[in-house]
Amino acid sequence: MPIFIEDLSMVYRDPRTLQEVCALQEVNLVVGDREFVTLVGPSGCGKTTLIRLIAGFGRPTEGRIRIERTSTDRPATSMVWQENALFPWRSVRKNILFGLEIRKVPSPVQKETLERLIDMVHLHGFEDRFPHELSGGMRQRVNLARAIANDPEILLMDEPFASLDAQTKYLLSEELIGIWEKTKKTVVYITHSIEEAILLSDRIVVMTARPGRIKEIIQNPLRRPRSTELMSTSIYEALFRDIWSLLKEEVLKAQATTSLQ
Ligand SMILES: Nc1ncnc2c1ncn2[C@@H]1O[C@H](COP(=O)(O)OP(=O)(O)OP(=O)(O)O)[C@@H](O)[C@H]1O
Ligand SMILES: [Mg+2]
Repeated sequence: MPIFIEDLSMVYRDPRTLQEVCALQEVNLVVGDREFVTLVGPSGCGKTTLIRLIAGFGRPTEGRIRIERTSTDRPATSMVWQENALFPWRSVRKNILFGLEIRKVPSPVQKETLERLIDMVHLHGFEDRFPHELSGGMRQRVNLARAIANDPEILLMDEPFASLDAQTKYLLSEELIGIWEKTKKTVVYITHSIEEAILLSDRIVVMTARPGRIKEIIQNPLRRPRSTELMSTSIYEALFRDIWSLLKEEVLKAQATTSLQ
């Protein structure tokens, strides 16, 4: 399901000081149906603001976001956050099935969904554990399974693997590639990792320092199916260099403005 982001600007105003922060400025982007698009950009450039607006949390100051829905009986979007998004008092099973319970999905369908997703994220035997009994990587797998269980038309992911160690990150990126290749949902993904951006995305959107605008959109030529083995290829290395040189300029700009404040 495509997402149309049209002339989008977002200005936050502090209600006490009336000081304004322009987080996004005239962002135009079309995310295609079943496309995997990643946003990269310096800290504070408005990535989370953009993904929250797509999820329908808050309204933009200017412009609009249109989502062309194909069905109304499943949610338009589901979000995977960076961490601490699971209900600590619910087991893995109950966390994954939360959205289905709310929508009163019949129990045989819930059972089938649980089995399919536990299989997909490799959590056999952990169905009755609670979040505090899992490792960080396992918790993020549950988060992913919960978002997919809702069967949203669009999956929104805000730095889902940021708090994990490098090896777990690579493994989960590979799993996510496999899951996406199977489910083929429209995905908007945020990361600070150029590696993840290249391995996962069809297109990579490089944003400017605040106010966030689109600096460049890079089409990813890497073939699918993908795996971390592609990281040693010359196409990968060239892409990495291109993205980093675009990003570096913006990170330096962002640092310069922060240190002047
Ligand atoms: N609810 C809010 N009220 C006021 N200002 C906000 C709010 N949310 C974000 N901001 C400001 O908007 C700007 C963009 O924030 P945002 O969280 O979207 O950036 P980001 O690109 O996700 O950064 P990071 O990479 O560090 O997560 C920042 O200057 C931030 O302080
Ligand atoms: Mg953010």
